[in-house]
Amino acid sequence: MPMKHVVVIPGEGIGPEVILPTVDIISELVTEIEFEFAEAGKSYFEKTGESISKTALEKAASADAILFGATTSFRKASYRSPILALRQDLELYANVRPAKAFLPGLKKVDLVIIRENTEGLYTQNEEADLYGVTTYRRVSRKACEKIVKFAFAWGRQNSRRKMTCVHKANVLRASDGLFLDIFNAEASRQKKIATSDMLIDSTAMRLAMAPEEFDMIVTLNLYGDILSDLAAGLIGGMGFAPSANYGAKRALFEPAHGSAPDIAGKGIANPMASLLCGKMMLDYLGFSKEAKMLMAAIEKTVATHHNSIDVYGRCNTAACIESLRSILGIGEAHKEPARVKRAKMKRKNGR
Ligand code: NAI
Ligand code: MG
Repeated sequence: MPMKHVVVIPGEGIGPEVILPTVDIISELVTEIEFEFAEAGKSYFEKTGESISKTALEKAASADAILFGATTSFRKASYRSPILALRQDLELYANVRPAKAFLPGLKKVDLVIIRENTEGLYTQNEEADLYGVTTYRRVSRKACEKIVKFAFAWGRQNSRRKMTCVHKANVLRASDGLFLDIFNAEASRQKKIATSDMLIDSTAMRLAMAPEEFDMIVTLNLYGDILSDLAAGLIGGMGFAPSANYGAKRALFEPAHGSAPDIAGKGIANPMASLLCGKMMLDYLGFSKEAKMLMAAIEKTVATHHNSIDVYGRCNTAACIESLRSILGIGEAHKEPARVKRAKMKRKNGR
């Protein structure tokens, strides 16, 4: 297989704490991936006046995939959220957020939320006047068609059975109405996937009460953001919530959680969301055998109770990772990780 190029943006807070061990594990499973690192986030902004450098955006735009940790938001007008910049600049229009319960004792949740990723309220287009602020919300025909088509294609490829379109078309009749009409038109052409629609507020209640009723949800940007955190709450929290942002030419993989300043630096972050992102990235890049191995190791680590303290386990991040590495048969994390060794060799060989 030809060499794949992955740009890693560890970010800050728990971002690097979970992404770097994920990169190490992937480096040991697959030698045909070249990793390149770039900085972004609040601390980078404080140093440089930019939240993400132009070079990082350019590197990401030519990479096969991007692995993103998490950054800390900053309420300053000139601060452009790095993840929103990447999603918008690279036209990563589809955000896929699986929520699967691995922990024993939880309800049998296995759902996937597919969220429109480029518009809605996330264009950060706000206008202040003397009396308050107006926020513009864009819902375009093109973006609705793209996300609905993507969702059905993803459902077919992954053998899913049901799709619920989530909206608020009873109030937002024109915008959410457009999204629902486009969904219904596409739904009438589906043979294998059962379809229905539900209001966003009813969905929140049904998800809390009977999450096993849902298989796939396709929805607009803000609804998907909120519902996917709700779904994460059903499977043990943000530490188990991966996400993937797909565009036509490349994809970005990021745990759905943020930089978690409340636990950053303590070495106790749950690395599972990040490892699940690694698994999704391996699948995307065509390393399906290694993706399966990683998934099996994640499931076994959880089933053998090597869990982090956010889910009442006894392991810190390093102990979760050691358990997973020994299941994979790649032994203890080295002082000099595989990714560092490979970078040194490359420099020595003058590449
Ligand atoms: P958060 O996801 O960082 O944390 C929410 C809660 O979940 C916290 O109690 C945290 O300790 C816990 N948590 C999250 N991930 C965890 C993990 N892997 N293991 C164990 N516990 C975990 O969300 P919050 O607190 O709302 O935001 C913190 C910062 O991160 C903010 O500046 C926010 O804007 C930013 N953020 C960045 C994102 C990104 O870079 N893509 C996404 C979401 C938030
Ligand atoms: Mg969110």
